[in-house]
Amino acid sequence: MAKISSISILLMATATMASPDRPCLAAVSWGDPRVDLFGTAPDTSIWHKFYTGHDWQPEKFERVPSHAGTCPSISSWGDGRLDLVWVNETYGYVLHKYFDGGRWGPSWDDAVNLGSGVGVPQTYSWGSGRLDMVGIADNGSTGKV
Ligand SMILES: *[C@@H]1O[C@H](CO)[C@@H](O)[C@H](O)[C@H]1NC(C)=O
Ligand SMILES: *[C@@H]1O[C@H](CO)[C@@H](O)[C@H](O)[C@H]1NC(C)=O
Repeated sequence: MAKISSISILLMATATMASPDRPCLAAVSWGDPRVDLFGTAPDTSIWHKFYTGHDWQPEKFERVPSHAGTCPSISSWGDGRLDLVWVNETYGYVLHKYFDGGRWGPSWDDAVNLGSGVGVPQTYSWGSGRLDMVGIADNGSTGKV
């Protein structure tokens, strides 16, 4: 089962390889009926909107403070949890931001720097507290973090 998940993540990584000038979308649900939608704008910022079951909020997309060099990867391990990972436009650092307890961490403006050397990171979670990340190393090999 875990092996099948890894394979699908790798295929997804290939499919979502994109540059900021080619906007992309990524969606996830933490449970019925919630849907969170993320995308990159041509100015490289990540935008967010979510479906509540009644309507989409906010009315326009909200801009997450970011300079993304890749499509963001979004995953959730449960109710109220989001994990957002992307590669920064400059210096190639993999950055992580999470939504938990009704707010963004480590803060709305900041992201956790997970280091560099990996492109097109994709995340997946099989349960609470667990986040797996697969990416393509700068030398072309596939690795996990
Ligand atoms: C991310 O990219 C922006 C804009 O390109 C740059 O100003 C910033 O220093 C970078 N941050 C990190 C952590 O590399
Ligand atoms: C790529 O880099 C990783 C991490 O440094 C290393 O383990 C791997 O052997 C390298 N692969 C190639 C094909 O050079």
